[in-house]
Amino acid sequence: MGKTVLITGATSGIGFEASVALARQGAHLVMVGRDPGKTARAVQAVRDRSGSSTVDSLLCDLASQRQVRSLAQAFLARYQRLDVLVNNAGTVSMTRTLTEDGLESTFAVNYLSAFLLTNLLLDRLRASAPSRIVMVSSAGHYAGSIDFDDLGLERGYQVMRAYSRSKLAQVLFTRELARRLQGTGVTVNALHPGTVATRIWNRAPAFTRPFFAVAKRLFMLRPAQGAQAIVYLASSPQVGTASGEYFDRNLPRPPSRLARDEGLAARLWEESARLTQDRPV
Ligand SMILES: NC(=O)c1ccc[n+]([C@@H]2O[C@H](COP(=O)([O-])OP(=O)(O)OC[C@H]3O[C@@H](n4cnc5c(N)ncnc54)[C@H](OP(=O)(O)O)[C@@H]3O)[C@@H](O)[C@H]2O)c1
Repeated sequence: MGKTVLITGATSGIGFEASVALARQGAHLVMVGRDPGKTARAVQAVRDRSGSSTVDSLLCDLASQRQVRSLAQAFLARYQRLDVLVNNAGTVSMTRTLTEDGLESTFAVNYLSAFLLTNLLLDRLRASAPSRIVMVSSAGHYAGSIDFDDLGLERGYQVMRAYSRSKLAQVLFTRELARRLQGTGVTVNALHPGTVATRIWNRAPAFTRPFFAVAKRLFMLRPAQGAQAIVYLASSPQVGTASGEYFDRNLPRPPSRLARDEGLAARLWEESARLTQDRPV
């Protein structure tokens, strides 16, 4: 592959396994993590398993817009190319929590950080074209809705409402960005990786954990299987020109009715630009 790939959420689960697979393809990998020790261990594990020495890392807590800006600055200073950006990091929160920017944390981490990071890196992606952006969304987006009067779910917070909203926002962003990038050679697609046995399920309510422990073993995909969806969109020639699409694993599939609402996508872009501006490093 020989391409420079920046991947968030690379310390665990699907992002970690995608890192191993992309490093095996010969990518120059830049793994983003938030904890220095955990990130260093993940880099070493990817090097060991892939046999690649071109595996670097950058630190960023994506809940912080200041840190997202620093991440983009550090990347742009160190790397001349960006062939593939994988916005994979994701979280769920049982209770409503706010980031240092005063935003609901699920929305901020899963979606708004990717909006900001992608926009900050867009010139480098354009200069590296043909290049790709991969958004790790979820089939959870089908249940998502967006209420601009209560974007942060101050009224009636529920964990799955917050998660599905953030995942719908990712698909809307994917489609609006693809429209804006037409003719540039930069593609952007969203994916659902399948139902995958990762740590994200450990945040479920305590009473459901025995169920998920069994489900993880019996019914869910292994992280390496889930990672294949990322690897496919990041590197397969079969999807080299696809853009603005939603993939369920490797199959293109219509996203939800709301995800296809162009007016909603345009309004979300405006609102996201408002929520991310004027926050200097
Ligand atoms: N597992 C599934 O069945 C499934 C289904 C559909 C979609 N997805 C999506 O797949 C993506 C990867 O999730 P996963 O299942 O692999 O879960 P995971 O094992 O919990 O991995 C999540 C990754 O995101 C990182 N992350 C979370 N909050 C962060 C923050 N504030 N700043 C920086 N990094 C942060 C985590 O870092 P730490 O290691 O530091 O915690 C970790 O590397 C997510 O977007 C998720 O929504 C998963």
